[in-house]
Amino acid sequence: MSNRFLLRDALAEFPPYVPGKPPTTAPGLKPYKLSSNENHLAPLPGVVDAIAEAGQVPANYPDPKSTKLVADLAAHLDVDASEIVPGAGASEILSALTNITLEAGTSVVYPWPSFEMYPILASARGAQKRPVPLLEDGRHDFQGLVAAIDDTTRLILLCSPNNPTGPSVSTVELDGFMAEVPAEVIVVLDEAYFEFATDAEVVDGMAAYRKFPNLVLARTFSKAHGLAGLRVGFGVADPTIATALRQVIAPFSVTSAAQVAAVESLSRNDEVLVRAKEVAATRDQFEQDLSDAGLTVSDSQGNYVWVSLGDEDAQAFEEACAAQAVAIRRLSGGVRISVGPDEALDRVREVATAFVESRTA
Ligand SMILES: Cc1ncc(COP(=O)(O)O)c(C=O)c1O
Repeated sequence: MSNRFLLRDALAEFPPYVPGKPPTTAPGLKPYKLSSNENHLAPLPGVVDAIAEAGQVPANYPDPKSTKLVADLAAHLDVDASEIVPGAGASEILSALTNITLEAGTSVVYPWPSFEMYPILASARGAQKRPVPLLEDGRHDFQGLVAAIDDTTRLILLCSPNNPTGPSVSTVELDGFMAEVPAEVIVVLDEAYFEFATDAEVVDGMAAYRKFPNLVLARTFSKAHGLAGLRVGFGVADPTIATALRQVIAPFSVTSAAQVAAVESLSRNDEVLVRAKEVAATRDQFEQDLSDAGLTVSDSQGNYVWVSLGDEDAQAFEEACAAQAVAIRRLSGGVRISVGPDEALDRVREVATAFVESRTA
C-alpha cells in the first residue's frame, strides 16, 4: 500500500504533533481541559458581537490584506504597516518563516523541549534539525545554541516564555546571543505567551526588534487574547523579510471573523493585559502550591506550569488528573498544566498532594 501514491519518503520521519487531550468524564465531576494552554476566561465584551457581525456574510472572502488589523497593530507597536504580517495563528507565521529560509542542505537551531511545531516544520522543509537541550532549570542554553550554528544555519527559533518549561529569555541573554549570530541569519523570538510574563528580566521583544534587524517576532491572539479558535496571529519583521513571508502565506488565511475579533481585542489591550496578569498571579500561586506539595516546578512565565517528572511518574500523574476529569499535557520529562478555573486547579492540587504521599509512603 505504501507505494500506491508518490508521497515524500521523509513523511515517515516527521515527528507527530500531538494535540492536548480532551478531558475524560468522571461521574459527578465537571470536566476541564488544561492540556492546550487555552485561555479559560470569558471573551472580552465586544469580541463576540464583532464575530457575530462578521459571520453575517460568510459567502464573501475576507480582506486578503487584513488592512484594518495590520494598521491597528502597526499603530499599537509603533512600526510601519510593511513590518506586520498577519497569519492564521503564530503557527502560520512560523511555518512561513521556515518556508522562506529552509530547504535541503540547510539547518535550523532551536531549544528543546520547546514548541512541538519547530521540528515538524523543519522536517517539512527537509532541513537538518539542531535541537539544543535546555538547561536543567528549563531555560535556553545560549552557549549551546551558539555552538550549534554553522554556515548551513538559516533559521534560529527562540521561545520566550518557553513552552512547555516556562522560563522566559532575558534581555541580557538575548543581547549576548544576538552578538554571536551572523547578521544575515534570521532569529525568531516566539512570544506566544509574552503577555503573561512578570519576570523583571524578561526581554521586551519590540525593543529587541528595534535593535536587531535579523530578529523576527511571532505573536498570537490565541493565548492572552483568548482567540485560539479563530486562528489569528502575526509576525513583526524587517520589510524585506515581511515581503518574503507574504509571498508564502496562503491568501485569505485570516478569516473575516478573526480579523474583526483581533481588532476589537486589540482595542481593549489594556484589559487583556490586566487579565493576563491575573492569570500570572494564579500561575505563581499554583506553582508555589505544587512546589510546597513536594513537586519540582520551574519558573513559568506563561499561562501554564511545568512539573518535572520521570516518564513513568508523568504518566501516573496524568492518569490521576484524568480520573478527576482534568486533562493535562504529558510530554517527555514531565507534565504541563495550563492555568484554568480554580475548581480545576484545586483538583490538581489534591492530586499532587496524594501523588507525593503515595511516592513517599
Ligand atoms: C510557543 C508557541 N508558539 C506558537 C504557538 C502557536 O499558536 P497559534 O498558532 O495558536 O497562534 C503556540 C501554541 O500553542 C505556542 O505554544
